[in-house]
Amino acid sequence: MRVYLTGADGMLGTAFTTALRTDPVTAGWPLHGVSIADFDIGDREAVLASIDAFRPDVVVHTAAHAIVDDCELQPALASRVNVGGVRNVVEACRRTGSRLISLSSDYVFDGAAPPPHGYDEDDLPAPLSVYGMTKVAGERIAALLPDHVNVRTSWLFGGTDERLDTVLSVVRKAQRGERAQLIHDQFSLPTYTADLARALVFLLTEGSAVRGTVHIANQGSASWYQVGRHVLELLGTDAAEELAPEPVSFDRAGFAGGRPRNSTLSIARLAGLGCTLPTWQDAVARFTAATLDRPAAASTGGSRP
Ligand SMILES: NC(=O)c1ccc[n+]([C@@H]2O[C@H](COP(=O)([O-])OP(=O)(O)OC[C@H]3O[C@@H](n4cnc5c(N)ncnc54)[C@H](OP(=O)(O)O)[C@@H]3O)[C@@H](O)[C@H]2O)c1
Repeated sequence: MRVYLTGADGMLGTAFTTALRTDPVTAGWPLHGVSIADFDIGDREAVLASIDAFRPDVVVHTAAHAIVDDCELQPALASRVNVGGVRNVVEACRRTGSRLISLSSDYVFDGAAPPPHGYDEDDLPAPLSVYGMTKVAGERIAALLPDHVNVRTSWLFGGTDERLDTVLSVVRKAQRGERAQLIHDQFSLPTYTADLARALVFLLTEGSAVRGTVHIANQGSASWYQVGRHVLELLGTDAAEELAPEPVSFDRAGFAGGRPRNSTLSIARLAGLGCTLPTWQDAVARFTAATLDRPAAASTGGSRP
């Protein structure tokens, strides 16, 4: 199986490469990862030429402009990358006959009145932000390819840049003796990129017949405030008491544009397919332990909720 990956340098792209390379079934599969250093995903000719040349069996499309506030401030750029990028990848997949696994977001929902067990794949999107609108548009375009999977996920952590990763930022702040400010009344499914990446590998192996939309996330809805408190408990009693995060309310967070207040996804379809991710508490514990084992890296910019 030949696998083509966009966004290879991103938080999820990096985790996906590791997951593919360490799974005994997929470790030897040819993988071609591309990043923005290779070409702009909004450049149709470049995308077609690159995918044509590799002739993949499957394209995993993670490249996106994923900084929500930035999309609000730069809608034309957000559209070029998140809508035009999917369009270009879909056109290339049509030419090569490749299956497409394309990443989307819980922010396609408005979060006003989520069903008790979370939004399922058939609930109607109602995005509140430019980012959410571009992800809905991307999903619609991907769905024009019969052999497609739209993977909706939420609230990723597992990266190396603390300005883009809430869990990492809580750990690094605690190491510097600083308190984090975290929203206490916005909820979703915090998800570890390493676990999501393993589920994407599942879609390439046992889940190779899956089509349509599938929600993939760790189990358990939470606020970032709850996640932050859990991280500090993992770091020890002193940290939990002295560096307890400062709760910030959703209404005072100062987001550009609208955000869903509760975009918790139902992951029942994924479970029915035979794939269940661990709880967010388990995922946060593993990532925190891995983070403590490596030195802090310099931040490169941007910010996420
Ligand atoms: N992060 C979350 O909380 C979250 C939640 C739900 C869904 N998702 C979705 O999951 C996917 C992966 O997200 P992620 O957190 O891994 O994002 P990420 O770390 O920002 O990775 C996305 C990658 O796409 C690249 N990229 C941006 N603009 C590009 C362009 N014009 N041409 C080519 N590449 C470009 C980025 O490069 P630069 O870093 O150089 O810009 C980055 O390497 C995205 O589709 C995102 O929308 C993310």
